Amino acid sequence: MYWILVTGATGYIGSHTCILLLKSGYNIVILDNFSNSSPKVIDNIIKVSNLNSKEISRRIKVFEIDICNHNSLDNMFSSMIKSRKKINAVIHFAGLKSVADSVEQPYKYWETNVLGGINLIQTMESYNCKTFVFSSSATVYGPTSKIPIKESDLIKPCSPYGSTKASFENFLADISGCTETLKCSIPSNKEWRIARLRYFNPVGAHSSGNLGELPKGKPNNLFPLIAEVCSGEREILEIFGNDWPTKDGTGVRDYIHVMDLAEAHLLTLSKLFISDPQILTLNLGTGIGTSVLELIKTFELETGRKVPYKISERRRGDLSISIADPINALKYLNWKAKFGIKEMCRDGWRWKQSQAQNNI
Ligand code: WQD
Repeated sequence: MYWILVTGATGYIGSHTCILLLKSGYNIVILDNFSNSSPKVIDNIIKVSNLNSKEISRRIKVFEIDICNHNSLDNMFSSMIKSRKKINAVIHFAGLKSVADSVEQPYKYWETNVLGGINLIQTMESYNCKTFVFSSSATVYGPTSKIPIKESDLIKPCSPYGSTKASFENFLADISGCTETLKCSIPSNKEWRIARLRYFNPVGAHSSGNLGELPKGKPNNLFPLIAEVCSGEREILEIFGNDWPTKDGTGVRDYIHVMDLAEAHLLTLSKLFISDPQILTLNLGTGIGTSVLELIKTFELETGRKVPYKISERRRGDLSISIADPINALKYLNWKAKFGIKEMCRDGWRWKQSQAQNNI
């Protein structure tokens, strides 16, 4: 069976994607430097996948590697070849993802998110592995008045984080000689099969309660912060502005269940394996906008807890509305988000309660 290298595999979206890869029969190579996650997540992946020890040793390989270390990447690919396990494709999640941190540490973000990615592509090319799924982001679009957002809309990131994602997308276009935005065929001698998946706002957790987002330190994003207020870890939620031009004045986002996102990666992999050389660029969202106040209300209904909040100043770099047009993911992958805000809150809360019960 195929071996899929998952970089950043113990991160939020990576770990949930590993569950579905194992369930679909793929073998996985877990690559992580554990800078924003824990090796304990591997135990959770195994627990949710219900693998016995024989299957674990046969189907999962783990490498603690920083993608900025080109030699380590090369040694890993080489050791897989020596044990007659060719890596057939790579899903690349490893990277830094905080908008706020990227403003403080642009060098670190460019080194990891761009140079690290270039190291990975160069290593893949030297081992003739040319099927690649890139974890990109809706932050490449920047402020836009056009809602819902299409893949062909203006790329204008307004943070170093967004710039690194857009730049690495451009790098992928350059190595494959591709210029179109949505789907473009590549000269067969280039052989690359690439997907650039632009996530909107990933939230929620695996329904078992044994896997979920495990941010190190204070979360930056709304969903984990609401969960922390609900669980009593945090006293109050700050709402960054209630004077936005939106339905209730608070920010509107396209929240997508992490399992819907994981499913889209499996479908993308299957699609690339049977396609001619190409680059496919797709928005992954639900096409539905939810405001901060609406998310709070849903969380309160699903948990039976109150979410105390106060209105604060707008956060620098925030947009009023960000909603995907996901029509092309339906067209090219036959993928459509299945879960709504209620399931996202229910599953996210179950994971938060499980963390408290198991002292995670
Ligand atoms: C959502 C809404 C805030 C926190 C981020 C990053 C990027 C991307 C998606 C990967 C906004 C409001 C938030 C709080 C609040 N992920 N908010 N109080 O900024 O849309 O996108 O996640 O690429 O990491 O761009 O997500 O969850 O931070 O904010 O009022 O304490 O919640 O103003 O309207 P964002 P978010």
